Amino acid sequence: MKVYIILPMFASAILTALYGIDDYAKRAGKMYFGTAANLPTGGAINDKYYMAHFNNTQNFGQTTATNVMKWIYAEPERGVFDFSLGDDFVRLAEANEYILRCHNLIWHEQYPGWIDTTDWTKNALLEVVRRRVKETITHYGDICYCWDVVNEAINDDGTYRQSIFYNVTGPEYITVAYKTAQRTIAELGLNVKLYYNDYNIEYPGTKATAVQEMIVKSLKKSNIQLDGVGLESHFIIGETPSMASQMQNMADFASLGVETAITELDVRALSLPLTQAQKTQQIIDYNNTISACAMSKSCIGTTLWDFDDTYSWIPSTYVGEGYATPWYQPGGANTPLKKKRGIYAALVNAFNRQIGTGK
Ligand SMILES: *[C@@H]1O[C@H](CO)[C@@H](O)[C@H](O)[C@H]1NC(C)=O
Ligand SMILES: *[C@@H]1O[C@H](CO)[C@@H](O)[C@H](O)[C@H]1NC(C)=O
Ligand SMILES: *[C@@H]1O[C@H](CO)[C@@H](O)[C@H](O)[C@H]1NC(C)=O
Repeated sequence: MKVYIILPMFASAILTALYGIDDYAKRAGKMYFGTAANLPTGGAINDKYYMAHFNNTQNFGQTTATNVMKWIYAEPERGVFDFSLGDDFVRLAEANEYILRCHNLIWHEQYPGWIDTTDWTKNALLEVVRRRVKETITHYGDICYCWDVVNEAINDDGTYRQSIFYNVTGPEYITVAYKTAQRTIAELGLNVKLYYNDYNIEYPGTKATAVQEMIVKSLKKSNIQLDGVGLESHFIIGETPSMASQMQNMADFASLGVETAITELDVRALSLPLTQAQKTQQIIDYNNTISACAMSKSCIGTTLWDFDDTYSWIPSTYVGEGYATPWYQPGGANTPLKKKRGIYAALVNAFNRQIGTGK
C-alpha cells in the first residue's frame, strides 16, 4: 500500500526520489507501467545492479518474460510440457507483486523444432495448437493478467503471414487458438484476458486496418473472445508515429470493443554513438508514445521491451543499432545503471499531466 501525500511544486525533486514511473502511471489511472526482462536466462539474472532496478516497484508494476514463456521452452518434445523456466520467471515477478502479461502462445518464431520436422495434416497441427493453448493457460492460471494468444500473424501489406501454421491450416489456427483459450478460461473459471499482439499497428494504416478486420472484427463476429490488442511499439528515433496518430489508432481499436496496451516499447538509434539532436528526438519519441497511452482511456498500460541497453534485444538483432531503452550501464554489465534523465522525466511527466483528468 502506497500512501500519496500532496507536496508543493518546489518539492518535485523530492517527489521524483519518492515515486517512480509506475506510481505516476497508477495515479493517472493506468493499471501499470512495466518492463519485459530476459530472466532467468540471459546474463541479467547475475547482474545485481540490473536486478536491483528490476526489483524497483516504484518504477515497475508489471513484467513480461522476454523469452521463457514461449513455446520453444515449454514443449521440447511433442506432448511433453516443461514450464520450469516460466515458473522461475513467475517467482521473480511475484516477489515484487508484478502484474504478468504472459507472452506468447502461438507465434511463427521460437516454437519447438519438432513442429518443423513433422509432416502435418491440418487436423493434426490444429490439435497441437489446441493442446499448447490449453496446457499452458491451465498451468499458469490466474497468474497471468492476459495472454498474447496469437502473435504477429499479419504482414505489413495486410495479408496473412505464411508461417507453418498458416501454410498448413490457413487462418483456422487463429480461430482455433482463441476458441481454445476462451473455452479453457471458462472451464477453469479464470480471469485472464485474451490479447492479439503485433508491430507496425501503432498508427492508422494498412496493417492496423488489416488487424482490425482480419483479427478483431473477424473474431468478434464469430463470438470468439478477444479482450485486447498489444501495440508492440519497437520504434526508431525520428520515425516514431506522432502522439496524435497513436491516439487515433488506440481509439480506432477501442471502438471495436477491445482495450489496448503498449507491450514492447523501445526507441532505437540506427547508428551509434548518438548526436545530441538524436538524444533530444528520442525524448520526444518516448514522450509521444507514453503521452498517447496516458491520454487514451483504452490504453491500460505500457511495457518497455527491457529497461537497460545492456540487456536489450536490439544490439544482437540489429547490429550497430541500440541506445533504445531508458537506462544504460556506462561501465557495461555488472556496473551501476544510469537513467537517461530526459526520457525518465518525460515518462513521469506524461503520467503526471494526466492525474485527475479521468482518462
Ligand atoms: C530481486 O528480487 C529477487 C526475487 O525476490 C531476489 O531473489 C533478488 O535477490 C533481488 N535482487 C536484487 C539485487 O534486489
Ligand atoms: C509457407 O509457404 C510459402 C509459400 O509457399 C513459403 O514460401 C514458405 O517458406 C512457407 N513457410 C513455412 C514456414 O512453411
Ligand atoms: C510531451 O508532450 C506533451 C503533450 O503534447 C507536451 O506538453 C510536453 O511538453 C512534451 N514533453 C517533452 C519532453 O517533449
